[in-house]
Amino acid sequence: MTTTRPGEWVDTAMGLADFTFTEYPMRITTDRYTSPEFAARERAAIWMRTWQVAGRSDDVAAVGDWMEYRIYDQSYVVVRGTDGVLRGFVNACRHRGNQLCAGGKGNAPRLVCPYHLWAFNLDGTLRSVSRPDLVGPIDKAELGLHTVPVDEFAGFVWINPDPDAAPLAEYLGPAMEMLAPYRLEEMTTVMNVREAVDCNWKVVIDAFTEGYHIEGIHPELLKVIVIDPTQNRFQSFGDHAVAVAPFEVAGVDGFGPEQQLDGIRALPDTFPGVAEVLPTFETMVDAHRDADGVLHLPDGVTPRTILQEATREVYTAKGLDVSGLTDSQMSDNQGWLLFPNFFMTVRAGEGHVILAVPHPDGDPNRCIWHVISYFWLPGELREPFRAELVEVDPPGSHQYFLALEQDYVQMPRQQAGLRNTRLDHIHLAREEIGIARFQSVVDRYVASVD
Ligand code: FES
Ligand SMILES: [Fe+2]
Repeated sequence: MTTTRPGEWVDTAMGLADFTFTEYPMRITTDRYTSPEFAARERAAIWMRTWQVAGRSDDVAAVGDWMEYRIYDQSYVVVRGTDGVLRGFVNACRHRGNQLCAGGKGNAPRLVCPYHLWAFNLDGTLRSVSRPDLVGPIDKAELGLHTVPVDEFAGFVWINPDPDAAPLAEYLGPAMEMLAPYRLEEMTTVMNVREAVDCNWKVVIDAFTEGYHIEGIHPELLKVIVIDPTQNRFQSFGDHAVAVAPFEVAGVDGFGPEQQLDGIRALPDTFPGVAEVLPTFETMVDAHRDADGVLHLPDGVTPRTILQEATREVYTAKGLDVSGLTDSQMSDNQGWLLFPNFFMTVRAGEGHVILAVPHPDGDPNRCIWHVISYFWLPGELREPFRAELVEVDPPGSHQYFLALEQDYVQMPRQQAGLRNTRLDHIHLAREEIGIARFQSVVDRYVASVD
């Protein structure tokens, strides 16, 4: 990749209108959402073999910081070593298997098993055993913690339960270069909520992979997004994909510049980071009004290009280097799906991540969704705005921002329909090519196990 703004790769991706729709099945089975047998195959083929986000690097920034990552009944601990390197271990003592670290995160100079006090160094090697006279001769070099691959990218900690996994960089491929200019590693967690939801984990991913439900579920977004097959772009690579729908309602009856401006003013309901940019945006808009307040936009200037200019100006003034981002990345949200369960909408200065994992009880009709928002904030605002994890209890008691609340309410309703045994297939719309692609990757993984 030789461009200095790698996001151009997405700007020039295929439009929906250019696809032939022969590559992926548009008619898919429903047992994938409800069957315990299918879920068991996914567990072996997907969850025990793929890279997953365990948390943020700044949660394990200091030597001795650790965090637990659980998937189903499997538990891993990620630890920052004295050499600054992050390592992952199976969270089980090599003596008699007791769990070393329980729940959440912490800091310790070494990992000491509370049962019989065997102590492990932060690099996983066995440091000492208590009462060696009762233990007898052992080969310490043989009794280090079992390791799992761990890596860091974009401020996220990634883990793969498969000890033989290919490196993260190889797995993510071009996503690393594409996402780097957003500087996600500089962003602060400003919302962090986890909750059990009554739907399969793929119902969550599906819901964020298509824009076809905007009219039904998010009608207020119609002011800024029109699903136009010639403008919506979709690009798949490896097991992953990226899609983008521009924030611009053009060519729609009755939708002139003033209506487009109103749509942008309402954006913070869905993308809160836009609020920061609106005062500058309004000033730039007013510069195009005559003495009577009538708007005269020169050729090539639209509410969307003004939003782009305002966004670049505001973030640059605050200290975020946006020089590696394209103009469309100033206004439009790219939607990245990094298989299996990392979905992120991202634009300059803000990212919103949805992680969905199967419920630990194994019921395919349930999952845990974890929604996290990141803002780029100047240094002095980072600590005051940093959000700690909220585990919602009782379920349903948390109020999400508007668009997320709308999706949260919708998803269990789809699962309830999918549970009907007579419904053995569903039919995807062409706009839902992202779902077709995602489910074809699921099928490929699941077919790899007996
Ligand atoms: S099980 Fe850990 S020290 Fe015995
Ligand atoms: Fe939605």
